[in-house]
Amino acid sequence: MSLQKEMYAEAKQYMVGGGSAGGRFNATLGQPLYMERCEGAYLYDVEGKRYIDFHSSAGPALFGYKHPRIEKAVLAAIEKGFYWGYDSQETIDLAKELCKLIPSAERVRLVNTGTEVTLSALRLARAYTGRDIVIRFEGHFHGMHEMIWYNHNNEGKMDEIGEIENIPDGAGFPKCFDAAVKNVEFNDYEALERVVARYKDQVAAIIMEPISYNCGCYPARKEYLEKVRELCTREGIVLIFDEVICGYRMRPGSAQAYYGVTPDLTTLAKAIGGGLPIAALVGKKEIMEMGGPTGPAGVSGTYSGALMPVMAALECAKMIQEPEFYDHIEKIGDALYGGIEALMKKHGIKGHVRGVGARFAIYFGVEDPEDDYNWRKVKQTFDMEFNGKFLTECLKEGIYFHNYGTSPVPAHNGFGIQHTMEDIEYTLDKIDQIFARIK
Ligand SMILES: Cc1ncc(COP(=O)(O)O)c(C=O)c1O
Repeated sequence: MSLQKEMYAEAKQYMVGGGSAGGRFNATLGQPLYMERCEGAYLYDVEGKRYIDFHSSAGPALFGYKHPRIEKAVLAAIEKGFYWGYDSQETIDLAKELCKLIPSAERVRLVNTGTEVTLSALRLARAYTGRDIVIRFEGHFHGMHEMIWYNHNNEGKMDEIGEIENIPDGAGFPKCFDAAVKNVEFNDYEALERVVARYKDQVAAIIMEPISYNCGCYPARKEYLEKVRELCTREGIVLIFDEVICGYRMRPGSAQAYYGVTPDLTTLAKAIGGGLPIAALVGKKEIMEMGGPTGPAGVSGTYSGALMPVMAALECAKMIQEPEFYDHIEKIGDALYGGIEALMKKHGIKGHVRGVGARFAIYFGVEDPEDDYNWRKVKQTFDMEFNGKFLTECLKEGIYFHNYGTSPVPAHNGFGIQHTMEDIEYTLDKIDQIFARIK
């Protein structure tokens, strides 16, 4: 029995499914992949095998692993006392940087995870508007809480005006929560407007991933976002951009600067801590100050603004403002995305690659990138079988794309600042060989 299998057998006796998160399960292996260490752009598993990382641990590893500057910040935090439940100059400096970097940020509240930050955003939106309903988009994901985890991987029935029935993405959701969440298709403005009219004066928030990496990588159309912004202003609805994945993935300002559309609230997590658990809710002063102690809504936690993640995040905020940072990201992205797509053409493999900033998806079987900004359409044509074969071969060759196994649309993949052009050339060479074998 391999060491991986032995560890799985042992882990299952103590940990649910042998892992710390459902998403650790790798469908290619039928178990989680246990690691020994990770450094730079590489993962080293317990059997000593090296992988070039294109998963970035689901997003946080934009700076790669064990980045020397983040390591230094963490060591400085250890020196200062490594945890305390108090704020410091570093906390203020981080909040200042976020206000400078993110167009919607007038005030900041730090929490720990993406789930916590979207929960907090929805609560503040409800507290501010005095309304209950939240509108979300099919295929988008905002964490696994009862307030929002609907229709991420499930297709509900669409009615005559475009409202889509709620389907929770897991068990244990009280039926009564259904009434507070409504779904529509992304990038269909008319449907959204009709649903807003149906629930006039009841909608607290519209929440979206402006670039939905949870649908692989499918961006909003700019004019769509502009119209949604106008609609929210007109109807008194809080517009929330969930930039938990988008955050720092492209030039400073994230997706809201990329589009030039400013939401009322923004949720950030994953990459902003460079691998340490931190999330930030940022937004308009009057909405943010609905949170305690200035307002009646609770957004707080024991580990909110913990020193070590704050100091790591502060260093990350500095790094992304150095001009070479995104030059490198864009150079690597162009070479990788263009390279994979060229190999698909060379081998006659139907599909395309779409990437924005440091995250991307490979849409096997899906053609016409200009016309398929729609989760339902992608779901119909995405070639899951071919995708499964590809991921299996990549794993064998030491190229790590995570295989969740269940998603009906492509997973989001990514790379980080420590990937080199040599890593990309090596990867493309391997993919060339893989396509030749499995096409
Ligand atoms: C857009 C988005 N929002 C929120 C979350 C939840 O983040 P976390 O896993 O840190 O709770 C995720 C996680 O993948 C996400 O992709």
